[in-house]
Amino acid sequence: MSDPSQPVEVFREDYRPYPFAVDRVELDFELGEESTVVRSRIELRRTGGADEGLFLDGEDLELRSVSIDGTALDEGFYKLDGEGLTLPHVPDAFVLELEAVNHPKANTQLSGLYTSGGMFCTQCEALGFRRITFFPDRPDVMTRFRVRMAADRRRFPVLLSNGNKVEERELADGRHEAVWDDPFPKPSYLFALVAGDLGHVHGSFTTMGGREVDLYVWSEHDNVGRLGHALRCLRSAMAWDEREFGREYDLDLFNIVAVNDFNMGAMENKSLNVFNAARVLASAETATDDDFEIIDGVIAHEYFHNWTGNRITCRDWFQLTLKEGLTVLRDQLYSADMTSEAVKRVDDVRMLRSFQFPEDAGPTAHPIRPESYIAMDNFYTATVYEKGAEVLRMIRALVGIDGFRTGMDLYFERHDGQAVTCDDFRAAMADANGADLEQFERWYAQAGTPELTARGEYDADARAYTLTLAQSCPPTPGQPTKQPFHVPVAVGLLGADGRDLIGSRVLELRDAEQSFVFEGIDEPPVPSLLRGFSAPVKLTAPLDDDQLAFLMAHDSDPFNRWEAGQVLYTRVALGLVEAIRSGSAEPAVPEALVEAFGALLTGGDVDPSLRSFAMGIPGERTLGDAMETVDPDAIHAARRHMARTLAARHEPALQAIYEREAPAGPYRYSPEEAGRRRLRNACLGYLSALDRADTTALCVDQLHAADNMTDEIAALRCLARLPGDACEEALAHFYTRWNETPLVLDKWFSTQAGALRDDALERVDALLGHPDFDARNPNRFRALVRTFSRNQPAFHRADGEGYRWLAERVRALDSINPQVAARTAEAFAPWRRFDGGRQALMRAQLERIAARNGISKNLYEIVTRCLAG
Ligand code: BES
Ligand code: ZN
Repeated sequence: MSDPSQPVEVFREDYRPYPFAVDRVELDFELGEESTVVRSRIELRRTGGADEGLFLDGEDLELRSVSIDGTALDEGFYKLDGEGLTLPHVPDAFVLELEAVNHPKANTQLSGLYTSGGMFCTQCEALGFRRITFFPDRPDVMTRFRVRMAADRRRFPVLLSNGNKVEERELADGRHEAVWDDPFPKPSYLFALVAGDLGHVHGSFTTMGGREVDLYVWSEHDNVGRLGHALRCLRSAMAWDEREFGREYDLDLFNIVAVNDFNMGAMENKSLNVFNAARVLASAETATDDDFEIIDGVIAHEYFHNWTGNRITCRDWFQLTLKEGLTVLRDQLYSADMTSEAVKRVDDVRMLRSFQFPEDAGPTAHPIRPESYIAMDNFYTATVYEKGAEVLRMIRALVGIDGFRTGMDLYFERHDGQAVTCDDFRAAMADANGADLEQFERWYAQAGTPELTARGEYDADARAYTLTLAQSCPPTPGQPTKQPFHVPVAVGLLGADGRDLIGSRVLELRDAEQSFVFEGIDEPPVPSLLRGFSAPVKLTAPLDDDQLAFLMAHDSDPFNRWEAGQVLYTRVALGLVEAIRSGSAEPAVPEALVEAFGALLTGGDVDPSLRSFAMGIPGERTLGDAMETVDPDAIHAARRHMARTLAARHEPALQAIYEREAPAGPYRYSPEEAGRRRLRNACLGYLSALDRADTTALCVDQLHAADNMTDEIAALRCLARLPGDACEEALAHFYTRWNETPLVLDKWFSTQAGALRDDALERVDALLGHPDFDARNPNRFRALVRTFSRNQPAFHRADGEGYRWLAERVRALDSINPQVAARTAEAFAPWRRFDGGRQALMRAQLERIAARNGISKNLYEIVTRCLAG
């Protein structure tokens, strides 16, 4: 038996098929908030060796009875421990009946069956079903589920589960019951149950095969007015998946439920998606343009899982990227179609760089298909998700868009109804296209962000340009050396007049160093490398400031226009950091940048969203990643100096855009109008950096005049940084207006936690005691605590008080919600990237967390990895 004080590590290599098939399961829930009784009837059939016993996972449960084929078992015939239930001797085919009890109201982990506000809901991925009842809680055991539930009728009039409702009736004592049957075999992690007093909106969708599907989106009654957007998004995602991937929905009913307490964004349970309210509810007054877009993407993502995740699922949890990387790629492509390809790509790459690259460079780095875990919940990472999607996007670049579709078709044809591996997916892609994806497997096996360097040589006599690419990959925990990757590098060559000389070509880099020759080139070109960010790598290109400014203005690839600007900003910012570190108070911002920025503001017909992104100086954390040793204070000073200089030098142009893009009518969400607001608010941000009474007044006016949350919160964010009355009045005004709308109140908390100001820590500490702060609600906790941990100068205060504060929050949350506590502790992961003083302070806090009595295995895994790495 394992020692419960020493968390067990699970290895990918140790996979063994489950020795039984589960043909059917019937679950019966007597729902009670203190105690819920679950009776289960499981039909089992031996598929493994005759000597294999039966093991069922179970956690935090009371077992009341066990019987086989109708005969109750004495305690001597089974063994119960903290991990589950073992029956050493069972027949080859039998019916197992169990009665177990769980405690929804005491379940503050929000995994399994729990209560949120007045309702019951479930979260089973990854390992939550075992907290509901005893079961083989692993994704390769797929079963048909039938569910009966009974609850108080007045308090829980709506009873939902997966599949179709087949019966419902009134019971004695004010209770009622419903029976749901799901015709599709599924793993336990896709099980869901919801019971509550819910309102809804209803719509329908006719599939390409003519099936009428009823669509419902459910929430607390008060929020029903904010459900319309979600319903529209669902229909649009259903249509897109038919159009782009030929995937049709397979049941007559699809439900989405919004819940207030939820660890993640949303969950793809078969036909009963459960969503964090923050990822469903939207109205002009309460949701920003970004919220509208994120909601569309999340609804699509969870819907797309019906094929990539549910119909075809993962053999084991090490294969998670099989469904998540693929579904993220699908939702990215969907969002690109709904908004703009370039805008979406820039947004995704910004995300990748700010969350995944640091992860891949730190002590918790792991391949997209990890080799081991202690707590599976810790592996829902930016690497598995975002890098996983990038890896598939590279396959798409290698086999082409049509080839990718053909590969997907073969994947569905081969594996529908199965639990499979990443290798199965790669094989389908390779076989459908006659492609060689052997070397490509290294992207699944090796962690770390590869580094590419490029150099070009022009030979006028031969009219040839030679591009030499070299790759290497830094060591990561457990992987000191790496093999070269198979990297698609999309390139273009620009002539002096800005013309594309060769169009765009995808080069396949396979070796540590390789040269590519372009013939018939009549002038020394400026190379545009890694167009569209064709691979998740760090590229060093041989471009000087003038060439970058040239690409910023002329590259036909919109992503690389943006990228050239980011490289230039970074170069300038790092120069300023050095100048500040060596004592210069107001170092000069190079004229090349000031001019390029001006060209950006006044240049021709550019998508307003892209223009606003191009105006954005890389964030403080991204700049930190580009330094040998992060200096939070110098970065902050440099970035602020840059923003103020650019604002001062281009004030009239910024003013002009601000006025030109003033709203022409009432708020309406559309990608175009969102772009105009984005651009206008980017200008407001720069203007407010001037810190003058009139620019502050501009923010105050916008705060009061806005008819929508996008403009309101943009103004509040500008004001939240300022010392003095304008800030206090703005915050008080916003609080009074929104204190009864929890999702908007989250924005009030996060605006303050993220504000770049000297007293940020004192303010978040005071907010801990605010009557509206509740650490048990993950959205509220994240709004205050996680946002603070990403406020670089505040969290990394040289006196270490930011570290101490965060460690205290993590320790306190661990006994309530270990999943969220562990994720919050990841803020300490980059500790070795800072100076010796800060390193020691962070290390001390990691050790203090590790020493917590009764530490959860989630948190244990993160802090031990951080300390070891
Ligand atoms: N399957 C996940 C939800 C999940 C994650 C459950 C971790 C349990 C543990 C879902 O499909 C998902 O990926 N949700 C994302 C949002 C999505 C748009 C990337 C989330 O919850 O953040
Ligand atoms: Zn997902």
